[in-house]
Amino acid sequence: MFLSFPEHFFWGTSTAAAQVETAGEHPWRGLVAKDGYRFERTTDHELRRAEDAGLIARLGSIYRCGVDWSRLQTAPMAKFDPAVVAEYKAFFNDLQQRGVGIMLVLHHFSHPNWFEAQGGWTKEDNIPFFVNYSQQCIKHFGEYARYWNTFNEPNVYAMNAFMLGNFPPFKKGRYFTANRVLDNMGKAHDIVKLLIKEKYKDCPVGISLNTALFKGVNLPGHAVAAFVRWWFLDRAARPFKKSDFWGLSYYAYMLFDPFPIDAIDRVGDLEKRNIPHDRMWGYQPEGLGMMLRRFHKQYKLPIIITENGICSDDPQQRIQSLRDYLKVCHTAIQDGVDLQGYIHWSTWDNFEWHLGPTYRFGLIRVNFETMERTFTPAAEFYSEIAKNGGVSL
Ligand code: BGC
Repeated sequence: MFLSFPEHFFWGTSTAAAQVETAGEHPWRGLVAKDGYRFERTTDHELRRAEDAGLIARLGSIYRCGVDWSRLQTAPMAKFDPAVVAEYKAFFNDLQQRGVGIMLVLHHFSHPNWFEAQGGWTKEDNIPFFVNYSQQCIKHFGEYARYWNTFNEPNVYAMNAFMLGNFPPFKKGRYFTANRVLDNMGKAHDIVKLLIKEKYKDCPVGISLNTALFKGVNLPGHAVAAFVRWWFLDRAARPFKKSDFWGLSYYAYMLFDPFPIDAIDRVGDLEKRNIPHDRMWGYQPEGLGMMLRRFHKQYKLPIIITENGICSDDPQQRIQSLRDYLKVCHTAIQDGVDLQGYIHWSTWDNFEWHLGPTYRFGLIRVNFETMERTFTPAAEFYSEIAKNGGVSL
């Protein structure tokens, strides 16, 4: 059976600059990840741009990506480094010539050390630094952007950086700080959206918000799941309501007992409960359908899936997950959800933040010794989806 998507529906893949380029002067640099790899050389993308552009072009018409703020701007309010600007422009140009437009992400979990040293997102006074950086991005890269994401998953960032201690600056339990971070990002979002619109009035601007299916498995678990659901999906979304679309990402089925039962630290507990999972989380594709309906009903805005994928070494498992998830998307569209595009995470394996590069999400496999890329059967499968505008089940 072939599931055909609407004519205007677009397909693409995504990476983030910090996860694919050799680390600039940003707070992730030097971190030793859970799998033992050091956050420095990631995938050599900056040395393989032409090859990577060729691969990207086989995987849809939109490439969602970012630029490394710390490489572009080495001091507060400084003019962008012309050599780095030229490097990105040449790459975006190459993509354009291959028929690929970009969704440009301005902040994806990383910013320069000098920004972090001044308090980063915890300080409202730091917003002008981000605005200045964004202005220069609009000036240099705006012509290539078909969509903008001001922020990638502010909810994941605020939670991991200020409540769980997984992301720099590794703070734990700072609930009020996390909320302040969200509000500061929201203020920055509103300002930057206006600046983009001044120059590109029809270009859609939004964020990407992470969504997940949260469920308690006992009484305390229900309470925690209810709180996390509210904070993650409602409280964290609130500062970003002035958007042209909701970019939503979805990966996880999160169970609580009351502690999170994930496959990173508690795989045995998921197996005991017969919950299918990937290498990181419980697997429940229908959760994506629930999120699409929830956001459609609540906000009546167009939706783009800005990230979706699974953590696995197995291309066959990745193919099956594409089938599962796209079936869910197709049904949601039939039910009236204004879903405009699907962007898969990720184009190629990359540095999975505090966990490390062996937590693989790529359609394209990367050998981390040689950095050689291999177009896996899952990449072939996705390439066909993008070409045919639908998926065969
Ligand atoms: C992030 C990506 C990350 C992916 C897989 C998303 O939350 O935006 O940077 O690699 O999930 O964990």
